[in-house]
Amino acid sequence: MKKILSALIHPKTPSDFFKAYEKNEPFFVHNLNKSVADLTSLPFLESHEALLNSWPKDVQAHLPDVRDEASSIDTTAKDAQKLFDNGMGLLFNHADSISPLLTEWVHELRMDLGLSALTMSRCLIYATPADAGTAAHFDQNINFVLQISGTKKWWVNTNTTIENPMTRHTLGQPCDPELDSYLEMPMPASMPENIEPIVLKAGSMLFVPRGAWHWTEAESDALSLNFTFTAPTWIDLFTAAIRGRLVQSNKWRATADGFSDIKQFDLLLEELKSDFPNWHAINILNMTEGS
Ligand SMILES: [Fe+2]
Repeated sequence: MKKILSALIHPKTPSDFFKAYEKNEPFFVHNLNKSVADLTSLPFLESHEALLNSWPKDVQAHLPDVRDEASSIDTTAKDAQKLFDNGMGLLFNHADSISPLLTEWVHELRMDLGLSALTMSRCLIYATPADAGTAAHFDQNINFVLQISGTKKWWVNTNTTIENPMTRHTLGQPCDPELDSYLEMPMPASMPENIEPIVLKAGSMLFVPRGAWHWTEAESDALSLNFTFTAPTWIDLFTAAIRGRLVQSNKWRATADGFSDIKQFDLLLEELKSDFPNWHAINILNMTEGS
C-alpha cells in the first residue's frame, strides 16, 4: 500500500520513487493537493506567524554569517519573529512532538520506506525569509521536503567525494574528525555553477538523498515541512547488539584501566572470539528491530 509515501509523491508511484532512492538520486513532484490536504490544513502551518504563536518551545535561528545550521542560536518564539524580520531562517525542530498527525505521518513514512526501528524520525519546519537560504552542505540523513508556502530554490549535486557519510558537512567548514578519517579525497572547494535549481512552490515535494550536496535560496518568504530520517548504519546495529551482549558481563562492565591490565582485556577478547562464530544477522536484527 505505502499510503503515506504515495501521498507525498502523487501521481508518481512508490516503484518510481524506489528507483531513484536505490540510486541515491533526488526525486521531486509538484502540485500536490488533495493527497497532502491533511498536512497543509494544519492551523500552525498557515503562516510562520501562526507557527510562532502556537510553538511551545525554543526556535533555532540561523545566523547569516555562513548560512548554516552549524551557526545558529536558540531563541524564544517571540524573539524569533524579530530575527526572521531581519532575514534569518528559523528551524522548528521535532514538530511531530506538537502534532499527533505529524507523529503518525513520520511513523508511517518510516514503515513505507522499510527503515530500521532504530531510525531517528522527525518532522522539521523551516521558515525562510526571502533571499535567505543555506550554504552548500550534505547530511547523513534523508529528507522529504514538502513546500507549504512561498518559493524556494534547491540545488542538489551528487556527492563524488564520499559515499555514505555518517555526519553532515558544510562546504568550506572544518571537517568532523571521524568523517575526515574515512575521506578518500579532499572535499571540493566549491560547487559547480551550471546546476539547474529545483524550484519548490506550495505543493512541491523534494526528496533529498543521503549525502547529496544541496544548497537553497528562498525567492519569497517560504515555509516547508520536512520529514527527516536518520537511519542506523550496519555499524550502528552491530555496535548496539554487541553492547547489549557485553553489558550482561560484570567483567566487561569493569572500569577500563588503560594499559595496566592488558592481560585481562586480552582474556575478554579471547572469550568474545570464541562466541563470535555463533553470531548471525538474524539474531542481531531480532534484537534491534524488536521482533
Ligand atoms: Fe540539509
